[in-house]
Amino acid sequence: MSIPRTALLGCISLAFSLTIAAAQTPSATPVQRQPAQPQAAPLPWMNTSLDPDTRADLVIHEMTLDEKIQLVHGAGWGVLRAGAPVAAGHNGGAGFVPGIPRLHLPDINLADSAYGVRMAALQSRYATALPSVLGMSASWDPDAAFLFGAVIGRELRAQGYNMSIGGGMDLIREPRNGRNFEYSSEDPILAGTMVGKIAMGVQSNHIMGDIKHYVLNDQETGRNTLDALLDPRSLRETDLLAFQIAITMANPAGVMCSYNRVNGDYACENEYTLNQALKRDWGFKGFVLSDWGGTHSTVKAALAGLDMDQPGDDNFFSEPLKQAVLSGQVPQTRLDDMVHRIVRSLFASGVIDQPPVRTVVDPFQGRDDAQKIEEESIVLLKNTAATLPLSASKLHSIAIIGGHADVGVLSGGGSAQVDAPNGNAVEPKPGSSPWGKAIYFPSSPLRYIREQATPNATITYDPGTDPAAAAKSAASAQLAIIFVTQYTMEGQDSATLSLPDKQDDLVAAVAAANPNTIVVLENGGPVSMPWASSVKAILESWYPGIGGGQAIANILFGRVNPSGKLPVTFAATEADLPHPQVTGLTERTGNNADAVTRNQPRQRPQPFTVDYNVEGMAVGYRWFQLKNKQPLFPFGFGLSYTHFAYSNLKVSPDAKSVSFTLRNTGLRKGDEIAQVYVTLPASADEHFRKLAAFRRVSLAAGATQSVEIPLDPLYLSIYSTADNTWSRPTGDYFVEVGGSSESLPLHQTLNLAAH
Ligand code: BGC
Repeated sequence: MSIPRTALLGCISLAFSLTIAAAQTPSATPVQRQPAQPQAAPLPWMNTSLDPDTRADLVIHEMTLDEKIQLVHGAGWGVLRAGAPVAAGHNGGAGFVPGIPRLHLPDINLADSAYGVRMAALQSRYATALPSVLGMSASWDPDAAFLFGAVIGRELRAQGYNMSIGGGMDLIREPRNGRNFEYSSEDPILAGTMVGKIAMGVQSNHIMGDIKHYVLNDQETGRNTLDALLDPRSLRETDLLAFQIAITMANPAGVMCSYNRVNGDYACENEYTLNQALKRDWGFKGFVLSDWGGTHSTVKAALAGLDMDQPGDDNFFSEPLKQAVLSGQVPQTRLDDMVHRIVRSLFASGVIDQPPVRTVVDPFQGRDDAQKIEEESIVLLKNTAATLPLSASKLHSIAIIGGHADVGVLSGGGSAQVDAPNGNAVEPKPGSSPWGKAIYFPSSPLRYIREQATPNATITYDPGTDPAAAAKSAASAQLAIIFVTQYTMEGQDSATLSLPDKQDDLVAAVAAANPNTIVVLENGGPVSMPWASSVKAILESWYPGIGGGQAIANILFGRVNPSGKLPVTFAATEADLPHPQVTGLTERTGNNADAVTRNQPRQRPQPFTVDYNVEGMAVGYRWFQLKNKQPLFPFGFGLSYTHFAYSNLKVSPDAKSVSFTLRNTGLRKGDEIAQVYVTLPASADEHFRKLAAFRRVSLAAGATQSVEIPLDPLYLSIYSTADNTWSRPTGDYFVEVGGSSESLPLHQTLNLAAH
């Protein structure tokens, strides 16, 4: 974008009256390298009354070609790869782009931060481990999502970063995907809303936010080579819709394109997803950055919409891009657009006007926030005979078994991994978390259960490594609580839905020994539970974060009433999934397809396709409806220690809102997540109900509330590939309201004429 010269001169003269030091906080030390002190004239783009685009244009006008090129690629693998050079000013995160001090442009320091800031240990810093993103999404609470992002943003800021590269939100098409814990949901509206709110929370701290991995990076197996196929309408109405919602809500600085191909072209050189959908159709003003090593070309990528190559050591966007600009293969205007997007994001986020200031992270506040979010996110999946909540006065003995519950709670691995304070709770060692090693955080469920159950009850702990010994321990107690874990991480998928390490046998043995067995799950994504019918209660705690032990105990003993609901379907068996096997996962690929980016000597799979047209728009719960299959636990499901009754549904004639009455019919205060599903007219050719709105409602025992929820017309619309428009079909809309995708007591048909 260029601006007329007269406007430019006007801005410069206006800026003479401004002081240069306006962006500095006098009493604190800014984190970025100090820009050189300008000598004479104030820099016009430091005028904070100008809009970010004007300010960006003013800077770009002063930049040399080399300076522009410098901004559009990272400075290499840095601390991520042993032996790689680490640039001066690099803050120890995953990425670094050197600034231009003479123009007052700061270094960009990017940090992985999916559920907390990564790689803090290398710098002896502390970072709060929040629950997994999938877990947090089980709260269905946009305020919790905002808080989640705000914790990350404030800790990035305290640690001297100015850009987050968290914000994962690929749809859960593959329940065995090793990164599902970084993602939000199988439903585009829930995922888009929650991840958009995370980005808003991050950016509320003047940190540039990011949303990734754009797009269809829905499995890890073969992620660098696979071609994800999905017809354009389904793509728009599912995976792209999730990104559209989050991006238009949060206006993040960055969108990270993924490793895989999308309908033939790599995601980082994909004209349709980058230029057409993201930039033209949704008006995205920020910049597209590649996943680390996800750039495959110079000219094609630049012309298709990639704005920043990371980590940059492949040289696609350094000298080769300069030459491509000089030869005209990439127009100068396109390079200026790339730079404009980056620089306007620095201004829009506040990174330049309010740069991060190093502070000691507040671990207490972080832990409280993490615990609060986890308490909203734990899902009570089963509770026969009101086994829960436990009553300390009636308990005399509890056998706790497995899951390292004596020392801590599990976390998810890969580039999302947050370092645990004092090293891994299971195998203590100082330093950063090794790639591929399951890390436990020191929040011991046993400790907090003991606090609430004593002095009445005797508590024993058995590690669960020997089913016979665990059964013996369970048999001698009044109640057994067994913790089961599923470690998942970036770069590899689970081959099955089963819990690893024969834990199904362990649960079966314990349940056979004690009829009062409660199972607590700590897992990355959906798992099968062949023992479900033989245990009394099941709690889904996801990866619970640093406040997890206490949150779990608070739910078990009823200090907190469970309220989370599943953001993803739990299938009974792999045979019920659209893809009974993880596509491309063979013995040869060895359950790890990440050989290139992690520099490990593993066999890389040959290119292959993942055909998402099998299910198309029918992702997750929609597939189970279409195929008439009964999941183990449906999308949107979760129990409470109280009960809720729905009545009196009214759908406004213009389909702009629904209202209904919600009553807490039990004896405890509780939160209900009310869900609105809509089946579109037959002409839409969808044939399933889909989530259209939701609301978390808090109700005192016996209280009644009238709830009104707006309906976004976009969510009742279908996408036409012929003319690239969304429209609401005419005909009968079947609206259903209730507490899960499979329990919808209220319904009404609404006929909508053409509009
Ligand atoms: C991951 C990204 C991450 C990047 C930098 C890649 O392997 O896919 O999510 O941000 O590494 O660590």
